[in-house]
Amino acid sequence: MGREQARRIATAFLPAQWFGNRRDYYYSRGKLGSDPLYPGVLGALNDAPAVPLLDIGCGLGLLAHVLREHGNALPYHGLDIDAGKVARAEQASARAALPQARFTCMDASAALPAHLGNVALLDVLQYLPAPAQAQLLHDAAARVAPGARLVIRTTLADHSGRDHATRITDMLAHLVGWMGTRPRHYLDAESLHTPLETAGLHLRMTPLYGNTPFNNWLIVGDRPLAA
Ligand SMILES: C[S@@+](CC[C@H](N)C(=O)[O-])C[C@H]1O[C@@H](n2cnc3c(N)ncnc32)[C@H](O)[C@@H]1O
Repeated sequence: MGREQARRIATAFLPAQWFGNRRDYYYSRGKLGSDPLYPGVLGALNDAPAVPLLDIGCGLGLLAHVLREHGNALPYHGLDIDAGKVARAEQASARAALPQARFTCMDASAALPAHLGNVALLDVLQYLPAPAQAQLLHDAAARVAPGARLVIRTTLADHSGRDHATRITDMLAHLVGWMGTRPRHYLDAESLHTPLETAGLHLRMTPLYGNTPFNNWLIVGDRPLAA
């Protein structure tokens, strides 16, 4: 995203008082300005049907701000296991007056809310153990409406240098306290494909490296319209 757009969105994460904690502001501004995730997801949702979006593991809800900034005002439901992030996401969403955006604190490995539309699952899978990943992929795919789309960004286990760089960074993010949950399991491409294809999605997979050293991939799963 452009630096000015990133700065504008990040202002919703400024503290109420000048002496408050600016961690979320600087994090959002830096991430929005540098991570190829947002252009990638915007591109993937661009020609998806105009139906509500469920964002599983939404963190601070940055995707909701990015979508609104690009004129997408469809209903957005973000959920995350981290109650603190959900509260901050709600605050920033209210401050930016995002229409039709809501957030829920929920463990996606235990249950997902009722939903039929598009689904996003961005940088979440590695925080779940292998059986929970397969279940979550199944549950997420079940919430993709006919004609609609599942958009996943994930790292993949392939023993490459990028794979190692990703694992080290994830562990550091946990150790410094940014990620409350530690990485549990890095899935490979086949473990990702099998449950999604079994659930009837047609998949496309492209690297989303940008200028980063990480092994990130964008996976787009389309559910065909019923014949
Ligand atoms: C790396 S962050 C990604 C946040 C957001 N998707 C983004 O791209 O900015 C991973 C998020 O997954 C959340 N998460 C991890 N395990 C989860 C679970 N079992 N249920 C829901 N959210 C979870 C974490 O709290 C964290 O906010």
